[in-house]
Amino acid sequence: MLGVACVLGASAVHAQTTGLDLAKNKACMACHQVEAKRVGPPLKSVAERYAGQGDAMVDYLAGKIRGGGRGAWGAVPMPAQTQVSQEDARLLAEWILSLAPPKP
Ligand code: HEC
Repeated sequence: MLGVACVLGASAVHAQTTGLDLAKNKACMACHQVEAKRVGPPLKSVAERYAGQGDAMVDYLAGKIRGGGRGAWGAVPMPAQTQVSQEDARLLAEWILSLAPPKP
């Protein structure tokens, strides 16, 4: 949660619910769940794959969210989410990465 909390800074929004609320708002949860596979991979698995690889992962995932992607998780492609602003895509990426358990 640290990353999200930093981005949101002084705003009074509770970091824990913000990422999920944003994801619900942007219809991500139509295809994703945090813990389980739906149409797309569980967001926790995404976090486990990419967390701990540095800040570049936020840009990478934000790009994937807005531009869509295919082949990273299976046969089903993710359509581009162009309704998501660059800023929101980064917030979502930070939130997703924060779902991974901390690495030793
Ligand atoms: C229509 C279904 C659908 C929607 C809506 C959707 N996704 Fe996905 N998402 C997928 C699928 C399918 C994949 C796997 C793509 C692949 O194998 O490369 C995926 C993959 C991802 C990945 C991993 C990308 C990678 O390269 O590993 C992230 C992060 C992600 N989605 C976030 C989001 C967020 C955030 C939203 C909402 C703005 C969203 N998704 C909306 C279906 C969806």
